[in-house]
Amino acid sequence: MNLNILVLPGDGIGTEVTAEAVRVLRRVAEKWNHTPHLTEGLLGGVAIHKTGSPMPDETARLAREADATLLGAVGLPEFDNEPPERRPEKGLLGIRKTLGVFANLRPVRAYQALVDSSPLKNHLVEGTDMIIVRELTGGIYYGTPRGISGAGAEERAVNSMVYTRPEIERVARMAFRLAQGRRRKLTSVDKSNVLENSQLWRRVVVEVAAEFPDVELDHLLVDNCAMQLILNPRRFDVVVTENMFGDILSDEGAVLAGSIGMLPSASIGERKPSGAFVGLYEPVHGSAPDIAGQNKANPLAAIGSVAAMLEYSFGLHEEAAAVNRAVETVLNSGRVTADLKPAGTPATTEQVGAAVCEAL
Ligand code: IPM
Ligand code: MG
Repeated sequence: MNLNILVLPGDGIGTEVTAEAVRVLRRVAEKWNHTPHLTEGLLGGVAIHKTGSPMPDETARLAREADATLLGAVGLPEFDNEPPERRPEKGLLGIRKTLGVFANLRPVRAYQALVDSSPLKNHLVEGTDMIIVRELTGGIYYGTPRGISGAGAEERAVNSMVYTRPEIERVARMAFRLAQGRRRKLTSVDKSNVLENSQLWRRVVVEVAAEFPDVELDHLLVDNCAMQLILNPRRFDVVVTENMFGDILSDEGAVLAGSIGMLPSASIGERKPSGAFVGLYEPVHGSAPDIAGQNKANPLAAIGSVAAMLEYSFGLHEEAAAVNRAVETVLNSGRVTADLKPAGTPATTEQVGAAVCEAL
């Protein structure tokens, strides 16, 4: 199979973890006789430096032409005081919107080898296995009106949480279908005791549920969900929620998985005529400027994102499963980076990538 992939390493540790993810991708291609065609593009702070824009037109074009896009991370502290329009993150939001990847799948698993890496008690964390489906192209991240206006005591800032019915329907359907392939339990998370936006969300999710009578649906308010995630994580199978709630809850999920360096993600859009999904694959973590360039970032979230790409964009189930098994083998071997190893000599980013290739 031809694998036409756009690689956007981005900023900070994005470049380092993506290099290892690409190494694993090439190993898979070699072993299963696929032909990777990899193109590299600019996104984020590096793109601002080289072109003045966080998402150059060329990057948008390359992403639309590729079968799938692999992304590292964006964000650099030098842009911290810039307005949202001129920040690296704007590039990330731009590419998500350009590709129309409305459903962001963030699996959270507690690997047996890592239960001691979580600050939570083992008996609480063990057996955790959920997917957070975060709506990715709507809500308060994109809603208008937005902006800061006025001056002095009159200065005010506005953001708008906007959802249309079709936006809720499509992400809900995606989440119900995922639940059908798992333990058939879907939890929809909202703040319908306060927000009209959430009232529409809940009403539409309930309507969509009629199409999926085999899936058990329940609802949680987002504040309660934040608590239940820590108190009783095994109760969750698939969680579906709007953009910002999903952003926040998925970082909480990282505590269950032992490290944010473990969380891959797949952002999925419509099906293409070929039957494959439009897909953008990226670790949940950010660019971690504090450890960038030191060869110590955990590449497993990026490598897990490659597994998700093989699965969702190319339908290569065997290859995807093999990558996930190789990750587990490496975790069990203890050849892991410092975030997962409080004592003993940690492995480097490159060593972990090499270990996954070896396990493959
Ligand atoms: C994420 C990140 C991004 C987001 C940032 C970097 C814009 O936190 O993917 O979770 O908020 O979507
Ligand atoms: Mg986030």
